Amino acid sequence: MNSLANKNVLLGVTGGIAAYKSAEIVRHLKKSGSSVRVVMTESAKEFITPLTLQALSGNRVSSELLDAEAEAAMGHIELAKWADGILIAPTTANSLARLASGRADDLLSSITLAFDGPISLAPAMNQAMWSDKRTQENLDSLISKGFKVCGPGSGEQACGDIGLGRMLEPIEILELFSSSFTQGAMSGKNVLITAGPTQEPIDPVRFITNKSSGKMGYSLAEAAIESGARVTLISGPVNLETPPNCHKVSVETAKEMHEAVMHHIKGKDVYIGTAAVSDYSPVEVKNSKIKKDGSRSPLNLKLKENHDILKSVSGLEERPYVVGFAAETDGLIENAENKLKNKGLDLIVANDVSNEEIGFESDENEVTLITKTDQQLIPRQSKKKISKKIVEFISRRINEQNN
Ligand code: CTP
Repeated sequence: MNSLANKNVLLGVTGGIAAYKSAEIVRHLKKSGSSVRVVMTESAKEFITPLTLQALSGNRVSSELLDAEAEAAMGHIELAKWADGILIAPTTANSLARLASGRADDLLSSITLAFDGPISLAPAMNQAMWSDKRTQENLDSLISKGFKVCGPGSGEQACGDIGLGRMLEPIEILELFSSSFTQGAMSGKNVLITAGPTQEPIDPVRFITNKSSGKMGYSLAEAAIESGARVTLISGPVNLETPPNCHKVSVETAKEMHEAVMHHIKGKDVYIGTAAVSDYSPVEVKNSKIKKDGSRSPLNLKLKENHDILKSVSGLEERPYVVGFAAETDGLIENAENKLKNKGLDLIVANDVSNEEIGFESDENEVTLITKTDQQLIPRQSKKKISKKIVEFISRRINEQNN
């Protein structure tokens, strides 16, 4: 946690039972060499006294927005200017909602609005409140705006429930918070990734899909986040956990994926299309289940071609660095090179899906990275390791472009 040395850290404490752990957080921050100022909400003071946090931080604790004395010394704008990073631990469900709606009705929320550096949140709440759709929507909205979320953990809660919602231990929170100050190869970059299959409905109970598991796209999202990028993941239906700090948008059909990509592409530095987008969808979707007629004659299904999402992105006037995937069963390099050219890509990742050990559902892969000027084989290894190498390759290329 060397990156916390000589940093000005503003610790926000909101009103939950986990607030007693804030004292430990202040102690660790001080030990790591940070200067700490604590801002408490009114309800936080019911759980831990300002005096405790003042004694540990060595600074007066602030909590009121309209405190003439405090404003004269260090008001909310000064506090926002003073801080290199903000950590809010614990962050209650109410504080999440307040931050997500951009309110400025207390000192802490006003500071976060005036602050333009890294803000990390350590949620702490009852498991039912955590899994409530509204909390999850607030969280997602905050992540999409660049807030980092540390936790929560799982286990027994103060109320006796068991589940997700416990605040992480102070040392775990600080490890995650300190990474806000380390510069990854993709720091400050905005990345849009598509993943998984699409489903094209035929009737209310049937659809056309493919074998994509989404593993490659999800692990690329994780690798990009770990190297400091802000990631939006547009995903078809998969059975995977969303990586922490990832803004996920769920879609089903190729049309929905195309629309979501076009909606989110503005301001992105990199676009990575790992999704196995269905090339065709039924011309007509029946409103009721298609019945067999017993004649044993072939059933004709009319299909129409879907938009090529990669082509739409590479054809944009202000285009990001565009990366495609070529999943091929034969003619791997030749087919991939053609796609690189025809779709106007900067990079294509060629992947032989005829080999089940490195195919769609596998945890391993072997790929060849192909650009206009070179080719590089990444030999068989876990999708996680491959993803790291692909992200390193992309970040080198975009950093070269910018220099
Ligand atoms: N792709 C896309 N939109 C589509 C089809 C594919 O964006 N409608 C993207 C995929 O996400 C992938 C790349 O194009 O990055 C290659 O996908 P692939 O299915 O291998 O190629 P196709 O263009 O569909 O060609 P074909 O199926 O004929 O091999």
